[in-house]
Amino acid sequence: MSDTQSSGAQPPTAVFGPVTGDVYERQMGRWSRDLAEQILDFVDIDLGGGAALDVGCGTGRLSFAVAQRNPAASVTGCDISEALLAHAAAVNPYPDRVGFEPGNACALPFPDNSFDLVIASLVLMFVPDGTLAAREMARVANPGGTVAAATWDFRGGTMTVRMLTDTVVALGVPGAEAWRARLMGGPGVRPGELAALWRGAGLRDVREGQITIRMDFANFLDYWEPTINGPVLPALLSGLAPEWHERVRGAVESAFLAGDADGPRSFASTAWVVAGSR
Ligand SMILES: C[S@@+](CC[C@H](N)C(=O)[O-])C[C@H]1O[C@@H](n2cnc3c(N)ncnc32)[C@H](O)[C@@H]1O
Repeated sequence: MSDTQSSGAQPPTAVFGPVTGDVYERQMGRWSRDLAEQILDFVDIDLGGGAALDVGCGTGRLSFAVAQRNPAASVTGCDISEALLAHAAAVNPYPDRVGFEPGNACALPFPDNSFDLVIASLVLMFVPDGTLAAREMARVANPGGTVAAATWDFRGGTMTVRMLTDTVVALGVPGAEAWRARLMGGPGVRPGELAALWRGAGLRDVREGQITIRMDFANFLDYWEPTINGPVLPALLSGLAPEWHERVRGAVESAFLAGDADGPRSFASTAWVVAGSR
């Protein structure tokens, strides 16, 4: 089966587990901030005094980037994580026109035709039903509005994720193959999938592309601590004997160092990006 085909019945999607805002910022927020700027370059929209919705806003990095580029626009960020919403609200530099509230991508708590831009960064791969989420994003967009999203190319474009997932599978960690399959099988992860979701949601003038950023780490601990405490790896390791934790750490450290002394490392990460008009 080619990488662009799905097997029909989707495997369960990886769950974005509980994480504090501080840990998320170290695990992904420091990179999604760079990604946000490039997503907005791709989307290329002048909101004027319009309204934007950031679906799965996390700690709010994309919401803030939209607000900074569009000084007269209002931005709503929604997410299912209370901890991340609280972090976003606490660091919000634009409290007069950026707000955060609970909201599930698969059942957005907003009326039809509400926003000029509806956007989701690194979210769809964690939702249980990508088709429904794409339809929901299209539904709350105004006619003529823009709907956009980015997902990590976990399968072929993210070095840090491949390094981790392939190492635990090769080690024979119990449950690792299913865990990796769930992560790599989420909506929008395969090539062309985001554009297919967008067309399926009735969006027009669908454009797709890819964005590559670098993830720069000071040393192995700078990578490992946010990873072991982050939203994805604990689902695999919790409940396993401590020896497994030690073996996983040792093998991932070896892959990270790749034979050199500990110190700075830089890894490429590519995201798929899509935009369309309602
Ligand atoms: C990798 S983070 C991305 C956060 C933020 N968009 C960014 O770019 O930094 C994934 C986010 O999706 C949120 N999320 C997962 N499932 C969701 C759902 N069904 N509805 C809304 N948000 C969801 C998580 O709580 C988390 O904040």
